[in-house]
Amino acid sequence: MGINRRDVVMGVGGALVGGLVANRLGVGGTSASVPAEALNVMDYRALARDRLPKMVFDFMEGGASNERALAHNMAVFDRINLRPRRLKDISKRNQSIELFGRKQAAPFMIAPTGMNGILWPEGDIALLKAAHAAGLPFALSTASSSSIEEVAQASTGDHWFQLYVSDRALSQTLVERAQAAQYSTLVLTSDVAINGLRERDVRNGFSLPVKYSASTIWDGMTHPRWSMDLLTHGMPQMGNFVSKQATDTNKQATMMSRSMDATFDWAALQWLRKLWKGTLLVKGILNADDAVRCVAEGADGVILSNHGGRQLGDAISPLQVLAETRSKITQPILIDSGYRRGSDIVKALALGANSVLLGRATLYGLAAKGQEGVADVIKILMNEIDNTLAQIECPDVRDLTPDYLTDDSASMLKV
Ligand SMILES: Cc1cc2nc3c(=O)[nH]c(=O)nc-3n(C[C@H](O)[C@H](O)[C@H](O)COP(=O)(O)O)c2cc1C
Repeated sequence: MGINRRDVVMGVGGALVGGLVANRLGVGGTSASVPAEALNVMDYRALARDRLPKMVFDFMEGGASNERALAHNMAVFDRINLRPRRLKDISKRNQSIELFGRKQAAPFMIAPTGMNGILWPEGDIALLKAAHAAGLPFALSTASSSSIEEVAQASTGDHWFQLYVSDRALSQTLVERAQAAQYSTLVLTSDVAINGLRERDVRNGFSLPVKYSASTIWDGMTHPRWSMDLLTHGMPQMGNFVSKQATDTNKQATMMSRSMDATFDWAALQWLRKLWKGTLLVKGILNADDAVRCVAEGADGVILSNHGGRQLGDAISPLQVLAETRSKITQPILIDSGYRRGSDIVKALALGANSVLLGRATLYGLAAKGQEGVADVIKILMNEIDNTLAQIECPDVRDLTPDYLTDDSASMLKV
Protein backbone atom coordinates (compact mmCIF):
# COMPACT_ATOMS: atom_id res chain seq x y z
CA MET A 1 0.00 0.00 0.00
CA GLY A 2 2.07 2.88 -1.26
CA ILE A 3 0.95 6.15 0.27
CA ASN A 4 2.54 8.85 -1.77
CA ARG A 5 2.05 12.49 -2.41
CA ARG A 6 1.17 11.93 -6.08
CA ASP A 7 -1.87 9.82 -5.12
CA VAL A 8 -2.96 12.51 -2.74
CA VAL A 9 -2.46 15.32 -5.21
CA MET A 10 -4.32 13.48 -7.97
CA GLY A 11 -7.20 12.36 -5.84
CA VAL A 12 -7.60 15.38 -3.67
CA GLY A 13 -6.75 17.89 -6.38
CA GLY A 14 -9.60 16.53 -8.50
CA ALA A 15 -11.84 16.56 -5.49
CA LEU A 16 -11.02 20.18 -4.76
CA VAL A 17 -11.77 21.38 -8.25
CA GLY A 18 -15.06 19.54 -8.00
CA GLY A 19 -15.52 20.96 -4.53
CA LEU A 20 -15.59 24.48 -5.84
CA VAL A 21 -18.20 23.40 -8.36
CA ALA A 22 -20.15 21.57 -5.68
CA ASN A 23 -20.07 24.61 -3.42
CA ARG A 24 -21.42 26.78 -6.24
CA LEU A 25 -24.16 24.25 -6.70
CA GLY A 26 -24.90 24.49 -3.00
CA VAL A 27 -24.02 20.84 -2.28
CA GLY A 28 -22.27 19.97 1.01
CA GLY A 29 -20.80 22.64 3.27
CA THR A 30 -22.61 24.18 6.20
CA SER A 31 -26.06 22.80 6.79
CA ALA A 32 -28.88 24.11 8.90
CA SER A 33 -28.05 21.58 11.66
CA VAL A 34 -24.62 23.12 12.27
CA PRO A 35 -24.71 25.41 15.33
CA ALA A 36 -23.45 28.96 14.90
CA GLU A 37 -21.73 28.67 18.28
CA ALA A 38 -20.58 25.42 19.87
CA LEU A 39 -21.83 25.31 23.45
CA ASN A 40 -21.30 21.63 24.18
CA VAL A 41 -19.64 18.48 22.93
CA MET A 42 -22.53 17.50 20.68
CA ASP A 43 -22.35 20.92 19.00
CA TYR A 44 -18.72 20.09 18.22
CA ARG A 45 -19.89 16.76 16.84
CA ALA A 46 -22.12 18.66 14.39
CA LEU A 47 -19.19 20.90 13.38
CA ALA A 48 -16.95 17.85 12.89
CA ARG A 49 -19.58 16.16 10.78
CA ASP A 50 -19.80 19.25 8.63
CA ARG A 51 -16.04 19.45 7.95
CA LEU A 52 -15.24 15.77 7.49
CA PRO A 53 -16.07 13.60 4.49
CA LYS A 54 -18.71 11.04 5.47
CA MET A 55 -16.18 8.21 5.22
CA VAL A 56 -13.86 9.88 7.73
CA PHE A 57 -16.67 10.96 10.07
CA ASP A 58 -18.00 7.39 10.03
CA PHE A 59 -14.54 6.02 10.89
CA MET A 60 -14.42 8.30 13.95
CA GLU A 61 -18.03 7.86 14.99
CA GLY A 62 -18.87 4.28 14.10
CA GLY A 63 -19.42 1.37 16.45
CA ALA A 64 -19.36 -2.37 15.89
CA SER A 65 -22.20 -4.42 14.40
CA ASN A 66 -25.59 -2.88 15.10
CA GLU A 67 -23.98 -0.17 17.28
CA ARG A 68 -26.04 -1.06 20.34
CA ALA A 69 -23.04 -0.60 22.65
CA LEU A 70 -22.32 2.79 21.08
CA ALA A 71 -25.86 3.98 21.86
CA HIS A 72 -26.02 2.20 25.22
CA ASN A 73 -22.79 3.86 26.43
CA MET A 74 -24.61 7.19 26.39
CA ALA A 75 -28.10 5.98 27.31
CA VAL A 76 -26.82 4.43 30.55
CA PHE A 77 -26.29 7.92 31.98
CA ASP A 78 -30.05 8.52 31.69
CA ARG A 79 -30.52 5.88 34.38
CA ILE A 80 -28.63 7.83 37.03
CA ASN A 81 -29.81 11.10 38.51
CA LEU A 82 -27.87 13.43 40.75
CA ARG A 83 -29.08 14.09 44.30
CA PRO A 84 -27.86 17.45 45.66
CA ARG A 85 -27.05 18.37 49.25
CA ARG A 86 -27.89 21.88 50.54
CA LEU A 87 -26.56 24.74 52.65
CA LYS A 88 -22.89 23.96 52.23
CA ASP A 89 -20.19 26.54 51.48
CA ILE A 90 -19.49 25.98 47.80
CA SER A 91 -17.76 29.28 47.12
CA LYS A 92 -14.47 27.47 46.43
CA ARG A 93 -14.52 24.39 44.24
CA ASN A 94 -11.86 21.90 43.20
CA GLN A 95 -11.78 19.44 40.34
CA SER A 96 -8.05 18.75 40.24
CA ILE A 97 -6.88 15.28 41.20
CA GLU A 98 -3.68 13.38 41.82
CA LEU A 99 -3.19 10.11 40.01
CA PHE A 100 -0.13 7.85 40.26
CA GLY A 101 1.63 10.67 42.12
CA ARG A 102 1.03 13.18 39.33
CA LYS A 103 -1.34 16.17 39.51
CA GLN A 104 -3.92 16.86 36.80
CA ALA A 105 -6.20 19.87 36.52
CA ALA A 106 -9.42 17.90 36.00
CA PRO A 107 -10.58 14.31 36.45
CA PHE A 108 -10.32 13.45 32.76
CA MET A 109 -7.72 13.06 30.03
CA ILE A 110 -7.40 12.28 26.35
CA ALA A 111 -7.78 8.61 25.39
CA PRO A 112 -5.52 6.89 22.86
CA THR A 113 -7.02 7.05 19.38
CA GLY A 114 -5.43 5.89 16.15
CA MET A 115 -5.12 7.83 12.89
CA ASN A 116 -5.75 11.25 14.41
CA GLY A 117 -3.93 12.77 11.45
CA ILE A 118 -6.82 11.94 9.19
CA LEU A 119 -9.08 14.22 11.26
CA TRP A 120 -6.67 17.17 11.37
CA PRO A 121 -3.06 17.62 10.19
CA GLU A 122 -0.72 16.52 12.99
CA GLY A 123 -3.77 15.61 15.02
CA ASP A 124 -1.80 13.84 17.76
CA ILE A 125 0.29 16.94 18.41
CA ALA A 126 -2.81 19.16 18.45
CA LEU A 127 -4.46 16.89 21.05
CA LEU A 128 -1.26 16.69 23.10
CA LYS A 129 -0.77 20.46 23.15
CA ALA A 130 -4.36 21.19 24.09
CA ALA A 131 -4.25 18.57 26.87
CA HIS A 132 -0.96 19.83 28.29
CA ALA A 133 -2.00 23.49 28.10
CA ALA A 134 -4.97 22.50 30.26
CA GLY A 135 -2.86 20.43 32.68
CA LEU A 136 -4.16 17.04 31.55
CA PRO A 137 -2.43 13.83 30.45
CA PHE A 138 -2.49 12.70 26.83
CA ALA A 139 -2.30 9.08 25.66
CA LEU A 140 -0.71 8.28 22.30
CA SER A 141 -1.98 5.27 20.34
CA THR A 142 0.28 2.64 18.78
CA ALA A 143 -1.62 3.46 15.56
CA SER A 144 -0.81 7.16 15.85
CA SER A 145 -0.01 9.46 12.95
CA SER A 146 2.95 11.11 14.72
CA SER A 147 5.66 8.89 16.16
CA ILE A 148 6.43 8.13 19.80
CA GLU A 149 9.51 10.36 19.56
CA GLU A 150 7.81 13.29 17.75
CA VAL A 151 5.09 13.42 20.37
CA ALA A 152 7.56 13.18 23.26
CA GLN A 153 9.50 16.06 21.76
CA ALA A 154 6.41 18.27 21.61
CA SER A 155 5.33 17.28 25.12
CA THR A 156 5.20 19.72 28.01
CA GLY A 157 3.26 17.47 30.35
CA ASP A 158 2.32 13.91 31.21
CA HIS A 159 2.29 11.64 28.15
CA TRP A 160 1.16 8.02 28.08
CA PHE A 161 1.67 5.34 25.44
CA GLN A 162 -0.98 2.79 24.45
CA LEU A 163 0.21 -0.58 23.23
CA TYR A 164 -1.45 -2.82 20.66
CA VAL A 165 0.37 -6.12 20.58
CA SER A 166 0.56 -7.44 17.03
CA ASP A 167 3.74 -9.40 17.59
CA ARG A 168 5.89 -9.61 20.68
CA ALA A 169 9.21 -8.54 19.14
CA LEU A 170 7.64 -5.42 17.63
CA SER A 171 5.87 -4.67 20.92
CA GLN A 172 9.13 -4.94 22.81
CA THR A 173 10.66 -2.37 20.45
CA LEU A 174 7.71 -0.01 20.91
CA VAL A 175 7.84 -0.37 24.70
CA GLU A 176 11.57 0.34 24.70
CA ARG A 177 11.06 3.39 22.49
CA ALA A 178 8.33 4.69 24.84
CA GLN A 179 10.57 4.07 27.83
CA ALA A 180 13.47 5.93 26.19
CA ALA A 181 11.13 8.82 25.33
CA GLN A 182 10.05 9.04 28.99
CA TYR A 183 6.39 8.16 28.69
CA SER A 184 5.11 7.85 32.25
CA THR A 185 2.43 5.24 31.66
CA LEU A 186 1.91 2.25 29.41
CA VAL A 187 -1.67 1.31 28.55
CA LEU A 188 -2.11 -2.24 27.32
CA THR A 189 -5.28 -2.43 25.24
CA SER A 190 -6.76 -5.85 25.91
CA ASP A 191 -9.98 -5.76 23.87
CA VAL A 192 -8.65 -5.94 20.31
CA ALA A 193 -7.52 -9.57 20.09
CA ILE A 194 -9.56 -9.53 16.92
CA ASN A 195 -11.12 -6.63 15.08
CA GLY A 196 -14.65 -5.37 15.75
CA LEU A 197 -17.14 -5.66 12.90
CA ARG A 198 -17.39 -2.01 11.96
CA GLU A 199 -19.83 -2.07 9.08
CA ARG A 200 -19.70 1.66 8.31
CA ASP A 201 -16.02 1.30 7.39
CA VAL A 202 -16.68 -1.77 5.24
CA ARG A 203 -19.55 -0.07 3.39
CA ASN A 204 -17.51 3.09 2.84
CA GLY A 205 -14.42 1.13 1.75
CA PHE A 206 -12.45 3.03 4.37
CA SER A 207 -8.71 2.33 4.11
CA LEU A 208 -5.30 3.99 4.19
CA PRO A 209 -4.36 5.22 1.67
CA VAL A 210 -7.85 6.29 0.68
CA LYS A 211 -8.93 4.32 -2.40
CA TYR A 212 -10.31 6.78 -4.91
CA SER A 213 -13.70 5.85 -6.28
CA ALA A 214 -16.53 8.00 -7.57
CA SER A 215 -18.06 8.13 -4.12
CA THR A 216 -14.83 8.94 -2.22
CA ILE A 217 -14.03 11.71 -4.71
CA TRP A 218 -17.53 13.12 -4.33
CA ASP A 219 -17.10 12.85 -0.56
CA GLY A 220 -13.89 14.93 -0.85
CA MET A 221 -15.51 17.37 -3.27
CA THR A 222 -18.28 18.20 -0.88
CA HIS A 223 -15.85 18.73 2.02
CA PRO A 224 -13.23 21.04 0.50
CA ARG A 225 -11.85 22.35 3.83
CA TRP A 226 -10.77 18.83 4.79
CA SER A 227 -9.53 18.07 1.28
CA MET A 228 -7.43 21.24 1.21
CA ASP A 229 -5.75 20.25 4.50
CA LEU A 230 -4.98 16.81 3.10
CA LEU A 231 -3.59 18.30 -0.07
CA THR A 232 -1.37 20.70 1.87
CA HIS A 233 -0.11 18.25 4.47
CA GLY A 234 -0.23 14.91 2.63
CA MET A 235 -1.84 11.62 3.54
CA PRO A 236 -1.22 10.74 7.20
CA GLN A 237 0.79 7.62 7.89
CA MET A 238 1.19 5.34 10.90
CA GLY A 239 4.00 7.40 12.41
CA ASN A 240 5.50 4.62 14.51
CA PHE A 241 6.20 2.47 11.47
CA VAL A 242 7.65 5.10 9.19
CA SER A 243 11.23 6.28 9.25
CA LYS A 244 13.45 8.33 6.98
CA GLN A 245 14.96 5.07 5.78
CA ALA A 246 11.84 2.98 5.25
CA THR A 247 8.10 2.94 5.36
CA ASP A 248 6.95 -0.39 6.68
CA THR A 249 3.69 -0.71 4.80
CA ASN A 250 3.05 -4.23 6.10
CA LYS A 251 3.09 -3.03 9.67
CA GLN A 252 0.93 -0.06 8.73
CA ALA A 253 -1.57 -2.42 7.12
CA THR A 254 -1.52 -4.63 10.24
CA MET A 255 -2.34 -1.62 12.39
CA MET A 256 -5.02 -0.46 10.01
CA SER A 257 -6.75 -3.83 10.13
CA ARG A 258 -5.81 -4.08 13.81
CA SER A 259 -4.94 -7.75 13.47
CA MET A 260 -3.42 -8.41 16.84
CA ASP A 261 -1.70 -11.19 18.71
CA ALA A 262 -4.71 -13.30 19.72
CA THR A 263 -2.51 -15.48 21.95
CA PHE A 264 -1.82 -12.61 24.38
CA ASP A 265 -2.83 -13.91 27.82
CA TRP A 266 -2.11 -13.46 31.55
CA ALA A 267 1.39 -14.90 31.13
CA ALA A 268 2.03 -12.31 28.43
CA LEU A 269 0.90 -9.60 30.84
CA GLN A 270 3.57 -10.81 33.29
CA TRP A 271 6.13 -10.51 30.45
CA LEU A 272 5.00 -6.94 29.78
CA ARG A 273 5.09 -6.07 33.48
CA LYS A 274 8.75 -7.11 33.61
CA LEU A 275 9.53 -5.08 30.49
CA TRP A 276 7.85 -1.81 31.47
CA LYS A 277 9.27 0.08 34.45
CA GLY A 278 6.63 2.85 34.70
CA THR A 279 2.93 2.86 35.49
CA LEU A 280 1.12 -0.02 33.75
CA LEU A 281 -2.63 -0.02 33.09
CA VAL A 282 -4.81 -2.57 31.32
CA LYS A 283 -7.52 -1.05 29.14
CA GLY A 284 -10.67 -2.82 27.97
CA ILE A 285 -11.67 -4.49 31.24
CA LEU A 286 -15.40 -5.20 31.66
CA ASN A 287 -15.43 -7.74 34.46
CA ALA A 288 -14.50 -6.99 38.09
CA ASP A 289 -12.74 -10.37 38.44
CA ASP A 290 -10.47 -9.52 35.48
CA ALA A 291 -9.62 -6.23 37.21
CA VAL A 292 -8.66 -8.20 40.32
CA ARG A 293 -6.42 -10.45 38.21
CA CYS A 294 -4.80 -7.46 36.46
CA VAL A 295 -3.66 -5.94 39.74
CA ALA A 296 -2.59 -9.35 41.06
CA GLU A 297 -0.32 -9.64 38.00
CA GLY A 298 1.25 -6.27 38.78
CA ALA A 299 -0.85 -3.71 36.88
CA ASP A 300 -1.07 -0.37 38.70
CA GLY A 301 -4.72 0.06 37.78
CA VAL A 302 -7.31 -0.69 35.11
CA ILE A 303 -9.26 1.20 32.49
CA LEU A 304 -12.84 -0.03 32.30
CA SER A 305 -13.75 0.37 28.63
CA ASN A 306 -15.71 -1.16 25.79
CA HIS A 307 -13.57 0.77 23.29
CA GLY A 308 -16.37 3.27 22.72
CA GLY A 309 -18.60 0.47 21.37
CA ARG A 310 -16.16 -0.18 18.51
CA GLN A 311 -15.35 -3.81 19.31
CA LEU A 312 -18.30 -5.83 20.66
CA GLY A 313 -21.55 -4.46 19.29
CA ASP A 314 -23.60 -5.64 22.26
CA ALA A 315 -21.07 -4.91 24.99
CA ILE A 316 -22.08 -3.90 28.50
CA SER A 317 -21.30 -0.29 29.44
CA PRO A 318 -18.17 -0.02 31.63
CA LEU A 319 -20.26 2.11 34.01
CA GLN A 320 -22.29 -1.00 34.83
CA VAL A 321 -19.26 -2.79 36.28
CA LEU A 322 -17.74 0.22 38.01
CA ALA A 323 -19.32 -0.10 41.47
CA GLU A 324 -18.56 -3.81 41.66
CA THR A 325 -14.97 -3.27 40.52
CA ARG A 326 -14.55 -0.49 43.08
CA SER A 327 -15.68 -2.88 45.80
CA LYS A 328 -13.00 -5.40 44.76
CA ILE A 329 -9.82 -3.37 44.14
CA THR A 330 -8.25 -0.37 45.84
CA GLN A 331 -6.01 0.59 42.90
CA PRO A 332 -7.02 3.44 40.56
CA ILE A 333 -9.90 2.71 38.23
CA LEU A 334 -10.15 4.77 35.07
CA ILE A 335 -13.12 4.52 32.78
CA ASP A 336 -14.24 5.54 29.29
CA SER A 337 -16.91 5.02 26.63
CA GLY A 338 -19.76 7.46 26.13
CA TYR A 339 -18.64 10.55 28.10
CA ARG A 340 -20.04 13.69 26.48
CA ARG A 341 -21.00 15.88 29.48
CA GLY A 342 -19.24 17.06 32.63
CA SER A 343 -22.12 15.55 34.61
CA ASP A 344 -21.33 12.13 33.06
CA ILE A 345 -17.82 12.43 34.49
CA VAL A 346 -19.22 13.46 37.91
CA LYS A 347 -21.49 10.38 37.91
CA ALA A 348 -18.54 8.04 37.20
CA LEU A 349 -16.48 9.63 39.96
CA ALA A 350 -19.36 9.27 42.41
CA LEU A 351 -19.54 5.56 41.53
CA GLY A 352 -15.85 5.11 42.32
CA ALA A 353 -13.82 6.01 39.22
CA ASN A 354 -10.62 8.02 39.69
CA SER A 355 -10.61 9.55 36.23
CA VAL A 356 -12.26 9.40 32.81
CA LEU A 357 -10.75 9.07 29.34
CA LEU A 358 -12.26 10.98 26.45
CA GLY A 359 -12.28 9.47 22.99
CA ARG A 360 -14.76 11.04 20.61
CA ALA A 361 -15.50 14.13 22.74
CA THR A 362 -12.07 15.64 22.13
CA LEU A 363 -11.89 14.16 18.61
CA TYR A 364 -15.01 16.18 17.70
CA GLY A 365 -13.13 19.32 18.79
CA LEU A 366 -10.07 18.25 16.81
CA ALA A 367 -12.00 17.44 13.65
CA ALA A 368 -13.93 20.72 13.83
CA LYS A 369 -11.17 23.20 14.67
CA GLY A 370 -7.86 21.44 15.44
CA GLN A 371 -6.06 22.32 18.68
CA GLU A 372 -8.38 25.27 19.32
CA GLY A 373 -11.41 22.98 19.15
CA VAL A 374 -9.85 20.44 21.54
CA ALA A 375 -8.99 23.23 23.98
CA ASP A 376 -12.57 24.48 23.79
CA VAL A 377 -14.05 21.02 24.41
CA ILE A 378 -11.79 20.66 27.46
CA LYS A 379 -12.88 24.08 28.72
CA ILE A 380 -16.56 23.25 28.17
CA LEU A 381 -16.25 19.99 30.12
CA MET A 382 -14.32 21.62 32.97
CA ASN A 383 -17.01 24.27 33.19
CA GLU A 384 -19.75 21.63 33.18
CA ILE A 385 -18.00 19.69 35.96
CA ASP A 386 -17.60 22.86 38.01
CA ASN A 387 -21.24 23.78 37.52
CA THR A 388 -22.39 20.27 38.46
CA LEU A 389 -20.25 20.31 41.64
CA ALA A 390 -21.80 23.63 42.62
CA GLN A 391 -25.33 22.43 41.85
CA ILE A 392 -25.03 19.25 43.90
CA GLU A 393 -23.07 21.14 46.58
CA CYS A 394 -20.06 18.88 46.57
CA PRO A 395 -17.25 21.44 46.24
CA ASP A 396 -14.46 18.89 45.73
CA VAL A 397 -14.46 16.04 43.20
CA ARG A 398 -12.49 13.96 45.69
CA ASP A 399 -15.52 13.96 48.00
CA LEU A 400 -17.95 12.54 45.46
CA THR A 401 -19.68 9.38 46.71
CA PRO A 402 -22.74 7.34 45.67
CA ASP A 403 -24.69 9.51 48.14
CA TYR A 404 -24.89 12.12 45.40
CA LEU A 405 -26.67 9.67 43.10
CA THR A 406 -30.13 8.21 43.12
CA ASP A 407 -30.41 5.59 45.88
CA ASP A 408 -30.44 2.63 43.60
CA SER A 409 -27.83 3.72 41.05
CA ALA A 410 -25.21 1.15 41.97
CA SER A 411 -27.61 -1.79 42.12
CA MET A 412 -29.50 -0.60 39.05
CA LEU A 413 -26.28 -0.53 37.09
CA LYS A 414 -24.93 -3.82 38.38
CA VAL A 415 -24.89 -6.62 35.86
C1 LIG B 1 -11.49 7.04 16.08
C2 LIG B 1 -11.10 6.19 17.27
C3 LIG B 1 -9.88 5.53 17.26
C4 LIG B 1 -9.51 4.76 18.37
N1 LIG B 1 -8.27 4.17 18.38
C5 LIG B 1 -7.85 3.51 19.50
C6 LIG B 1 -6.53 3.02 19.58
O1 LIG B 1 -5.73 3.17 18.67
N2 LIG B 1 -6.18 2.38 20.73
C7 LIG B 1 -7.04 2.19 21.79
O2 LIG B 1 -6.68 1.59 22.80
N3 LIG B 1 -8.30 2.68 21.72
C8 LIG B 1 -8.71 3.34 20.62
N4 LIG B 1 -9.97 3.87 20.58
C9 LIG B 1 -10.83 3.76 21.78
C10 LIG B 1 -10.60 4.93 22.75
O3 LIG B 1 -9.35 4.84 23.38
C11 LIG B 1 -11.67 4.95 23.85
O4 LIG B 1 -11.68 3.71 24.51
C12 LIG B 1 -13.06 5.24 23.32
O5 LIG B 1 -13.03 6.18 22.28
C13 LIG B 1 -13.95 5.76 24.44
O6 LIG B 1 -15.25 5.97 23.99
P1 LIG B 1 -15.81 7.40 23.55
O7 LIG B 1 -15.31 7.62 22.16
O8 LIG B 1 -17.28 7.22 23.60
O9 LIG B 1 -15.27 8.42 24.51
C14 LIG B 1 -10.39 4.63 19.48
C15 LIG B 1 -11.61 5.31 19.46
C16 LIG B 1 -11.97 6.08 18.38
C17 LIG B 1 -13.28 6.81 18.43
